[in-house]
Amino acid sequence: MKVTIIGAGNVGASCASLLAQKNIVRKIVLLDIREKLSEGKSLDISQMLPMTESNTKVIGTTNDYSKSKNSEIIIITSGIPRKPGMSRDDLIQTNAEIIRSVTKKSIFFSPKAKFIIVSNPLDVMAYVSYMTAKIDSSRVIGMAGILDSTRYRFFLSKRLNISPIDIQSLLLGGHGDTMVPLYRYTSVSGIPIKEFLSEEENDAIVEKTKKGGEEIVDLLGTSAWMAPSASVIKIAESILKDSKRIFPCSVFLRGQYGLKNIYLGVPSIIGKSGIEKIIELQLNRKENDLLIKSADHVKNMINKLKKFND
Ligand code: LAC
Repeated sequence: MKVTIIGAGNVGASCASLLAQKNIVRKIVLLDIREKLSEGKSLDISQMLPMTESNTKVIGTTNDYSKSKNSEIIIITSGIPRKPGMSRDDLIQTNAEIIRSVTKKSIFFSPKAKFIIVSNPLDVMAYVSYMTAKIDSSRVIGMAGILDSTRYRFFLSKRLNISPIDIQSLLLGGHGDTMVPLYRYTSVSGIPIKEFLSEEENDAIVEKTKKGGEEIVDLLGTSAWMAPSASVIKIAESILKDSKRIFPCSVFLRGQYGLKNIYLGVPSIIGKSGIEKIIELQLNRKENDLLIKSADHVKNMINKLKKFND
């Protein structure tokens, strides 16, 4: 099995490193437009693999898409990252152009691939890739919900002094300030979170989660990459192993949750064909209002984009 990662920046290179260490694919192709970058990073990762006991081959290439031929999965991380003071939405036009061009070249060489999109603003970029690829939407998946729910678990674990491993959480909506972590569906080893924390106390943690990405941009001057890449590899692994794990992912909605023609985060079953099922929950009024607000925000951004099909 072969996986191609487009973009050898922080997120792309970390995805390659994490996936290679798992020893579950034959080959990883790391592609970047910048000369020598992916070649150098691939070499460094390859020289780590004897120590981590992996036989995966990692190949770097400067913009030669023929090397990505017949990939099982294409992970798109290309685009400009945020700088301090920027929102994810500020990246929209630049990154949309990049995503369109990268998707076109990738689908040409790997017509059967599943796509995982990581570039921001996430839900809009997943939509752009889907419209460009013209393939079934089950094969174009946006990564965000896993990252956001993991951050939420991390902040909860700190607040409660409980292992984050034992916290289960679910999250809906777009990747950004309008994300909707679900208090009712959060539990600690099966114990509802309300046994530990009031809804008001939880709301404060949700606010912290919403700013989780921004906090790192302010500290580092660029976007996070460790937790984002780990989230991508969770999706890739569930596809490669056909594990049918349930993760919140940004997916194309066709009437689910009363929403249409939009990419938005909802719980989904991930297997060898990509998104195998979208899980629809009965939301209460507060949850539903927040989801609609989040969807409106993503829709406005999609409308800002120029026509896709030139
Ligand atoms: C973040 C970026 C990857 O949330 O959107 O850190």
